Amino acid sequence: MVRKKIVRRAGIVSVGKYMPPNVVTNFDLEKIVDTSDEWIRERTGIIERHMVKNGEKQSDLALIASREALARAGWSPKDLDMIIVGTVTPDHIFPSSANLLAGKLGAIGAPSYDVLAACSGFLYSLWQGVVAIESGRADRVLVVGSEIMSTLINWEDRSTCVLFGDGAGVVLLKAVDAPYGIHDMEIGSDGRFYDLLHMKAGGSAYPATHETVEKRMHTLYMEGSEVFKLAVRKMTEISESLLERNRIRPEQLGCFIAHQANIRIIDSTTKRLRLKPNQVYNNIDKYGNTTSATIPTCLYEAEEQGMIKKGDWVLLISFGAGLTWGGILMKWAVDRLPKTEEVAVDTVSDVLSTKLRPGGDWANQ
Ligand code: COA
Repeated sequence: MVRKKIVRRAGIVSVGKYMPPNVVTNFDLEKIVDTSDEWIRERTGIIERHMVKNGEKQSDLALIASREALARAGWSPKDLDMIIVGTVTPDHIFPSSANLLAGKLGAIGAPSYDVLAACSGFLYSLWQGVVAIESGRADRVLVVGSEIMSTLINWEDRSTCVLFGDGAGVVLLKAVDAPYGIHDMEIGSDGRFYDLLHMKAGGSAYPATHETVEKRMHTLYMEGSEVFKLAVRKMTEISESLLERNRIRPEQLGCFIAHQANIRIIDSTTKRLRLKPNQVYNNIDKYGNTTSATIPTCLYEAEEQGMIKKGDWVLLISFGAGLTWGGILMKWAVDRLPKTEEVAVDTVSDVLSTKLRPGGDWANQ
């Protein structure tokens, strides 16, 4: 892909996160399928994951995380020029979850759409937000990764049902001064491998019938060991290419965050890159694979724990179904963000009681 000279640089200026409170441990899963806490920990690094229990929708998780990020930045939803949601688990096939999120936020008029790129959904969405800011078409963008993966799980398939979880992470983007912000990025895909990780039914190829339901075609299917090998190879390759062409040595990275699919995938990648443990942030042990939410939730926690400071080099890398992949290299653009307790954020129950179409807007005049 041709790289053009960037005249205006975009940077992440706030983050938000929401995990539904219900925790499902490996021991809970032992009661459902033939597995063990020991196998799941050793083969994946996962100890527990969060899963919705009280009817929360994917756009609700996104809404709570978005409200937090907006409050921490001191922005109003009306400031947003664009809302992009990476997800494979939208509330409905249409309208998009981004449309619902924009409506619930009160960001009326802002363009909003979903990006379907599976585990790379957040980095694809971030790529688009960055391009919109660099081009001058947008000034303030909300980028979301939000999933309810528990709705796609085949609870009879022990090789996949132990891996996934629900959650949401968001970032706010705006133009920032050099040398901060996003310096380089790369996304790509290879659809020849679509069958390694997919959900067959639910789209127009296999609309819902008794047969699709009986055959569990509305659940996730994965050839895990194949995806594993390709993930390590591709994530290493993108990381090396982004670092080399920006003349950054691996030891200069302040924080490396990879998509959280399996701790062994991440360890193999970071070993090849010769990164030290204190340069790598993971949260797979607590949340499992939350698909497009893994990277923004890691970013949130790494910032919260003081691992990322203004001026640090941060590298984000993803790989997932499609196959899709992406990498984004940035110099962190902000001083420590205010803690959520220090800013006025609506309570979760207030946020969840948000009604669409409260009246008094353009449509009622
Ligand atoms: N509990 C106990 N045993 C399990 C199990 C579970 N939950 N899941 C699989 N096994 C068994 C298999 O049946 C197999 O048994 P067998 O040797 O008797 O046939 C054995 O463990 C090894 O299976 P295998 O699939 O080779 O294991 P693995 O080491 O490759 O680990 C994954 C499986 C799925 C954890 C791993 O391949 C993986 O993480 N892949 C990619 C992950 C991913 O999430 N990708 C998404 C986007 S990148």
